[in-house]
Amino acid sequence: MGILGSYSSSPFWVFCLFVLLGFVLNAAVLCDGGKTSSFVRKIEKTVDMPIDSDVFQVPPGFNAPQQVHITQGDQVGKAVIVSWVTPNEAGSNTVLYWSENSKDKNKAEGKVYTYKFYNYTSGYIHHCTIRNLEFNTKYYYEVGIGQSERQFWFTTPPEIGPDVPYTFGLIGDLGQSFDSNSTLTHYELNPQKGQAVLFVGDLSYADNYPNHDNVRWDTWGRFIERSAAYQPWIWTAGNHEIDYAPEIGEKKPFKPYTHRYHVPYRASDSSEPFWYSIKRASAHIIVLASYSAYGKYTPQYKWLEQELPKVNRSETPWLIVLMHSPWYNSYNYHYMEGESMRVMYEPWFVQYKVDVVFAGHVHAYERSERVSNVAYNIVNGMCKPVSDQNAPVYITIGDGGNLEGLATNMTEPQPDYSAYREASFGHAIFDIKNRTHAYYNWHRNQDGYPVEADSFWFFNRYWHQIDDSTTTSHL
Ligand SMILES: [Fe+2]
Repeated sequence: MGILGSYSSSPFWVFCLFVLLGFVLNAAVLCDGGKTSSFVRKIEKTVDMPIDSDVFQVPPGFNAPQQVHITQGDQVGKAVIVSWVTPNEAGSNTVLYWSENSKDKNKAEGKVYTYKFYNYTSGYIHHCTIRNLEFNTKYYYEVGIGQSERQFWFTTPPEIGPDVPYTFGLIGDLGQSFDSNSTLTHYELNPQKGQAVLFVGDLSYADNYPNHDNVRWDTWGRFIERSAAYQPWIWTAGNHEIDYAPEIGEKKPFKPYTHRYHVPYRASDSSEPFWYSIKRASAHIIVLASYSAYGKYTPQYKWLEQELPKVNRSETPWLIVLMHSPWYNSYNYHYMEGESMRVMYEPWFVQYKVDVVFAGHVHAYERSERVSNVAYNIVNGMCKPVSDQNAPVYITIGDGGNLEGLATNMTEPQPDYSAYREASFGHAIFDIKNRTHAYYNWHRNQDGYPVEADSFWFFNRYWHQIDDSTTTSHL
């Protein structure tokens, strides 16, 4: 018997044939454009964690600071806003802080706020901006007084520069269900170690409770403290932050959100906390507001028009945009809700070569190819998304795990521009290596912590503008 004959009859050869066939079939699926994941997750109802869950525990001690969280406090990363709530009395507004190499404690004074929402009265909400920090330095900080003092730490980002590596986490639509806890745990235990969270909106989902029960804003603040007290979460406002409830007498939108989560919007010449920008390491991050006016002549429109030319890709090569409502979404949920904003701003995103747009709102995961739809005018009929290497990749990451459950119903067939979609809860990591490359990956909650369910090498649009498509699309 010849060699071929012996192999053709062996189980090994049959196995190889199957593997080969698998590759061919897989390629055929990819050639159709995007991939709809075949991953089958366990179908379970998403349930909020009960109010006495350990993740919502009140810290011990009279009037002990709780819901401690930090965010960037200026444009470049030399300031941090520290926020916390004291439940019984205003107490101290002071933050004590010191760098790990120094024993001298510095003091910063904050301000305290309260608000009422229907029959709820908030605790004492403190915000204190610490300024003039050194880059790339670990700081300890303390809030509270006497026996209720609590200590935390954070590390400031490196000085801004084009090749500074930095690792961002991405979380959206988190809520406070058991799935939310799984998402946060997966983010914390991801071996890639995110250094700051880019949060794409919909925080507590308190508005899903009767009278928007603001106690659920407090439980949420305690839930995320284990991460947000130690690294900055960069905030985007979602529809669940609007809290506009005229039927119970609440006629001012965004009241709980703006009292609890401060952002450094004035540092980027914004007039409202809903749209602003920061620079961090090698990234310029623009936060937009899906639920504030964005039409021509509005403050947000004028701000963005002036902001985009300010982006200096020699200083911050990576241009990242955060918003809540996605522009490219092929799920049958919130379908086309982002369309009017896309019409207004997409030509600018192409002109200024935005690298990536992260959005939430749809409770699932989706990654697009680089695509634009900007050729249309009222008479030419050119209204089809086309492949465009000047355009951003659009990523929907609204799969944090909130009470409302997953969006499982997708438009069919999958559009060519949609590279990957899957209805699972999870989070993502955007890991900037240098001015040309960033490694992105998405993690579903059902997998072990290091497992990457979807991944993509980003090639920077300004410094390394070569085709980084992952599918052979027909666009
Ligand atoms: Fe939303």
